[in-house]
Amino acid sequence: MATIEKQAQGEAGKEEMGSSKQPLQKMFNRIPGRYDFLNRLMTMGLDQGWRKKAAACIIEERPRKVLDLGTGTGDMALYLAAKIPDAEVTGYDFSAPMLNVAKKKAERKKINNVIFVEGDAADILFKDDSFDIVAVSFAFRNMIYKNRNNHLYIKEIFRILKPGGKLICLESGQPQGRFVRFLFHKYMKFVPGGIAKCLSGYKEAYFYLSNSVMNFYYRDFLLTFLQNHGFHPVKYHPMFFGVVAITIARKPCVVY
Ligand SMILES: C[S@@+](CC[C@H](N)C(=O)[O-])C[C@H]1O[C@@H](n2cnc3c(N)ncnc32)[C@H](O)[C@@H]1O
Repeated sequence: MATIEKQAQGEAGKEEMGSSKQPLQKMFNRIPGRYDFLNRLMTMGLDQGWRKKAAACIIEERPRKVLDLGTGTGDMALYLAAKIPDAEVTGYDFSAPMLNVAKKKAERKKINNVIFVEGDAADILFKDDSFDIVAVSFAFRNMIYKNRNNHLYIKEIFRILKPGGKLICLESGQPQGRFVRFLFHKYMKFVPGGIAKCLSGYKEAYFYLSNSVMNFYYRDFLLTFLQNHGFHPVKYHPMFFGVVAITIARKPCVVY
């Protein structure tokens, strides 16, 4: 089997939380209260700027229907709904407690062109060819990393996109430079771990975060993975020394 396929499926015995839906779902159900605060803390406030960069790629497409998959507390969905008032934005997530935070934010900000729907990204509740854009911010890793069912997520994203529609994915990356990668991995090893020690109940979540970010797939793997599922072209834009990246993958207008 090709190395990339092996990496995609997760070697037997080495699979982690991503392989089964429930542990990951339980983990996210426990953290919504402090999720936004800890994101800002760990990224030193940079995460919102990265979301805005990914959102700019979406806004320039002038979409009418956008799905924010793994929307969590809804930051990306709410930002897009506010910036594209004539678009219908749907935030989709399998964690009801995360969605409750998102819904409260929408009410507080009086944003009406957004809805939040509970469901699993491996079996999306929408019809074929429904969306111009599927956005995924910091949730793609949760869906595909060391998960032998990761093809289900990609197939579902492909299915619900309209022909010519795009997947725009913001996710942690692997810096190309060895020294930056070394520093990034040290940071990921100690900072989320430190947070986990200070906040009981968060240990598992931040151990998973460290581990999955440090071992997440490289650019070439992701590009091949998406191309093998029918997306073309697929482009990868690293940001902040490659610590994060925006991947843009188009569903061709004619699918053979
Ligand atoms: C790290 S959070 C990212 C949240 C948000 N997109 C952001 O930018 O902060 C990952 C989110 O993906 C959701 N998620 C992970 N796997 C999922 C799945 N299979 N189906 C639906 N949601 C999923 C989790 O519940 C969680 O809310």
